[in-house]
Amino acid sequence: MHTVHGRSTFTPFRGWRTLLGLGICLVYGWAANAQPAAATGGIKTGRHAAVVNPTDTWTPWWEDAVIYEIYPRSFQDSNGDGIGDLNGITQRLDYLESLGVKAIWIAPFYPSPQVDFGYDISDYESIDPQFGTMADFDRLLSEAQRHHIRLILDMVLNHTSDRHPWFIDAASSRESRYHDFYVWNNGKTDKAGKRQPPNNWISLFGGSAWEYVPAVDQFYYHMFYRQQPDLNWRNPKVEQAMFAAMHFWLNRGVAGFRLDAITTLFEDPKLRDAPALGGTNAQGDPALSDVYTNNLPEVHDVIRRMRSMVDSYSGDRLLIGETYVPRTANLDPWYGGSRQDELQLPMDTLLGMGSKLDARLFRQHLVEAETQLHHSQPLFVFDNHDNVRSWDRYGDGVHNAEIARIIATILLTSHAAALIYQGEEIGQVTATPARVEDVRDPIGKTGWPKEKGRDGERTPMQWDASDRQAGFSTNEHTWLPVTPNYTTINVQTESADPASLLS
Ligand code: GLC
Ligand code: CA
Repeated sequence: MHTVHGRSTFTPFRGWRTLLGLGICLVYGWAANAQPAAATGGIKTGRHAAVVNPTDTWTPWWEDAVIYEIYPRSFQDSNGDGIGDLNGITQRLDYLESLGVKAIWIAPFYPSPQVDFGYDISDYESIDPQFGTMADFDRLLSEAQRHHIRLILDMVLNHTSDRHPWFIDAASSRESRYHDFYVWNNGKTDKAGKRQPPNNWISLFGGSAWEYVPAVDQFYYHMFYRQQPDLNWRNPKVEQAMFAAMHFWLNRGVAGFRLDAITTLFEDPKLRDAPALGGTNAQGDPALSDVYTNNLPEVHDVIRRMRSMVDSYSGDRLLIGETYVPRTANLDPWYGGSRQDELQLPMDTLLGMGSKLDARLFRQHLVEAETQLHHSQPLFVFDNHDNVRSWDRYGDGVHNAEIARIIATILLTSHAAALIYQGEEIGQVTATPARVEDVRDPIGKTGWPKEKGRDGERTPMQWDASDRQAGFSTNEHTWLPVTPNYTTINVQTESADPASLLS
């Protein structure tokens, strides 16, 4: 168990935060806002821009890339409602280009009831009005291209929102054509004659993973909130529908996807009870093994088909996976092992999502990533929108600034591709709410005080000291409060200081 200041690392798939635990194709690509590689007619930009000799080893753009994660609610608000948006990202492209990032991964901005702040999607082919319009998206895409930055979208395939038209229909009748898009079961009847869920599975976000729907007299399965029903990937129509959504964005010109919760698409068809591990998790539920809900072998067939689909596009489109695994060698199958026909970049959170500043451990992880992955390219991740920031996890409270420099050095000098989460580059801290009434993330409300939620790592980006919103918004009521240290920890101040973490 890796616990920092009473919180443990976000490792959804080994128990929620409770155990250890991310051509020449001008024809097609350029016209459809293709990404920079296509724009150069197949000659790669960056370090390999000059590779024209056909005997040279060809290297895709992402191999040595820094990819920057944007949590759009908290990056830049352009219209003064206190919530970041797509036009805000467009406004900050000069900054992103100055960092040298080759791509930005943007957390979900599709229409959503926002129960899980966008990870509950009700329409996969549109933009939530609070983030902007499709015209704003297209402008962001073309402006980003001008800044040599590709867009990676977050694709949530495990579940939809319960407000998605498919689910609304599916839950209305067993005869619905969408009923079998989700995972339903009749459940059991107990001795008192009461209907009970089919097994002991627990939602990572607290409580039973099964929710009863009177209209169909059945339970549906949800790994996350009950407002996030799991899709039934054993139904081929689900794959068709989700691949269609991916085509929609690939055709618009995005460079690829970060695949949310990709390891959990399938569940045990027999719905066997999960073995208990003993003890309870942060939500107070019994700690259970995930053998029947995570990492089922069928998922690899889906990913191989997805990879062929993505490879049918020009410009080295990329699949990144949210792959929390216990050991480096467990990442290899997500690349497709020696065949390398699955994800190009499953996230390696093993190097960066611990909490022990230990050179021997870092070295061991680096060596493993070099030797246990069939020479596939690692993607190291220290920070994201789900975990206590590395600043606080590795920091000792005294030397955090020095420690952040060590971490940045490891991240940015290894052979691996690197992921940076907004604010990591300036040393933003985790600002976890002190009072339960201030918590926005639902798991922080249900889990309080053991689990205080993920608000702390989602506070607004600190741009400057021009106003109390740190340049994030003109509205004093930002959706999460700006961290008080913005007066010194901000992009503008650090840009002017050659000794800053940012510099
Ligand atoms: C991923 C996301 C997280 C979200 C969960 C459910 O782990 O990163 O923010 O809550 O999936 O979609
Ligand atoms: Ca806004």
